[in-house]
Amino acid sequence: MTAKIIDGKEIAQSVRNELRLEVDQLKQDGITPGLAVILVGDNQASKTYVANKQKACEEIGMYSVLIDYPETLSQEVLVAKIKELNEDEAIHGILVQLPLPAHIDETAIIEAISPEKDVDGFHPINIGRMMTGQDAFLPCTPYGVMVMLEHINCEIEGKHVVVVGRSNIVGKPAGQLFLNKNATVTYCHSRTKDLKAITNQADILVVAVGKRDMITSSHVKEGAIVIDVGMNRNEQGKLCGDVSFDEVKEKASYITPVPKGVGPMTITMLLKNTVKSAKKAAL
Ligand code: GUN
Repeated sequence: MTAKIIDGKEIAQSVRNELRLEVDQLKQDGITPGLAVILVGDNQASKTYVANKQKACEEIGMYSVLIDYPETLSQEVLVAKIKELNEDEAIHGILVQLPLPAHIDETAIIEAISPEKDVDGFHPINIGRMMTGQDAFLPCTPYGVMVMLEHINCEIEGKHVVVVGRSNIVGKPAGQLFLNKNATVTYCHSRTKDLKAITNQADILVVAVGKRDMITSSHVKEGAIVIDVGMNRNEQGKLCGDVSFDEVKEKASYITPVPKGVGPMTITMLLKNTVKSAKKAAL
């Protein structure tokens, strides 16, 4: 079997087109959805991510503001800024780009963000709401994975979903979102004993490890759907995922490429969460 490629770039564009219409409508009602992005320090990758997030906001007509601090920023000043943004009616989403410098407690910062403006979906209140199936801001990458599967009309109920990776940002919440849709979910991680035996049972295999060629064709059941959340660089500096794409695509029914797979969906879901927050503020 040769897999169909799930085109994340195209799906992301269609979601952004819908969002642009929603933003236009909100603006006619006197509300411009606004995102505040906080960047601390000089991490080059973070700078690029933040620039891409701001550009995406502008492209759909949203307002975005970048608050750029030096590495030496104190935790107190950062918390005070977040509290100010929590009260700012022009701001519907607050995003603190991670990682933060070591002297700042990430948990305390995430908890300082109002859960109603936590468009990353990292606040424990939103994680708890997601776990109990309540309305919540969903973390952008796993949310993007679910939207991609919706676009290919993938039935999730009753499927065996194997998630490889258990990060707080991707692996753990991804499994929870599938569980909420009545899938049977298995998590694998670095201490899993026989990875292949488990991944070979997957109808849907989600890989979010951060290790190139982690998943080869021998890990994959014929006809499985393979979602690659990895973002790595090969020896030539080219972007690649966690899955050996060329061989796995000969066995899977659907597969996401890297680049142009899950990546473009993540920022799109950040926009979607911010528009959702603005709509709530308008009620
Ligand atoms: N750093 C890497 N990914 C993310 C993300 O999705 N949100 C934030 N805030 N920081 C990140």
